[in-house]
Amino acid sequence: MTDADPRASRADDAHGPVRVHEPVLLPESIVALDLQRGMTLVDGTVGAGGHASAFARALGPDGLVIGLDRDAEILPYAERALSLARAEGGARFVLRHASYAEIEVALSDLGIASCDRVFLDLGVSSLQLDSALRGFSFMRDGPLDMRMDTSRNPRDAAAWLRTVSAAELERVLGEIGEERFAGRIARAIVEARARRPLTSTLDLADVIVRAVPAAARHGRVHAATRSFQAIRIAVNDELGELERGLAAAWRVLAQDGRLAAIAFHSLEDRIVKQFLRERAERVTKKPVVAGDAECARNPRARSAKLRCGIRRSA
Ligand SMILES: C[S@@+](CC[C@H](N)C(=O)[O-])C[C@H]1O[C@@H](n2cnc3c(N)ncnc32)[C@H](O)[C@@H]1O
Repeated sequence: MTDADPRASRADDAHGPVRVHEPVLLPESIVALDLQRGMTLVDGTVGAGGHASAFARALGPDGLVIGLDRDAEILPYAERALSLARAEGGARFVLRHASYAEIEVALSDLGIASCDRVFLDLGVSSLQLDSALRGFSFMRDGPLDMRMDTSRNPRDAAAWLRTVSAAELERVLGEIGEERFAGRIARAIVEARARRPLTSTLDLADVIVRAVPAAARHGRVHAATRSFQAIRIAVNDELGELERGLAAAWRVLAQDGRLAAIAFHSLEDRIVKQFLRERAERVTKKPVVAGDAECARNPRARSAKLRCGIRRSA
């Protein structure tokens, strides 16, 4: 790791200012996970290390945090946050570029058979959204990329949009994006791509906005929000990863270990809910949601749902 502030390198790319990612439902996650000093915790979506560094402080110097992220570019941010926590008496830590669905391999590479806690904070980080070059945002002009793992996923959003069938595109926009104009948007994308390759975020956003009825173009939520989210989820197979990741996490959890996950999308939350209902003693029967103050401070928190369960039998 370099000594340079990793945030500076993002800001230096002249694609706009970079927000620091604010961890969602942080005190609630610490309570749900019932963190004890000396425990081993896997943060499967370590991101910029906001949650992980707070967990590290709660685990104390004999604890261990293993942080995984599918996005190698974000790990220097986690390194910085966790180093600071460590210097202040927090847990030791190890970071790995891996999907949380690979949690078993990550642990066995470290010679660790099981862990006490697993935490997942799903979706994208503000750092990813704010980097125009990553192509996640319809607000910033950039390549239509949207891959969380640019080194291991060969198919970016532009390639996905080039090859997806009209029917599958409509299904993704309708089912994953819950986009009521899925049919119109899918047809507009198919027509546009027949004329020219869709390669930029603003180009795609423009096609989507023009496809929806005029009355729906200027609502509180940008008309491209749902489509961009749905395409991102498809490009990264986020729902498949979640199903594989929950099952893998359960296999490495020690008896009485806890799994907590924060979902921002109704289909993700449904997968987490179903999984815990079938296997866990649930710490939270109803999802924990953010209070008014957090939602006012951090609009991302509005859709967050935290669920947690205990693995009673190993
Ligand atoms: C909401 S952010 C996490 C933010 C983090 N809790 C913090 O406080 O900084 C979600 C992170 O999960 C990562 N991610 C998404 N899917 C993943 C997967 N299948 N495996 C590992 N990381 C993943 C993203 O790259 C992103 O960095």
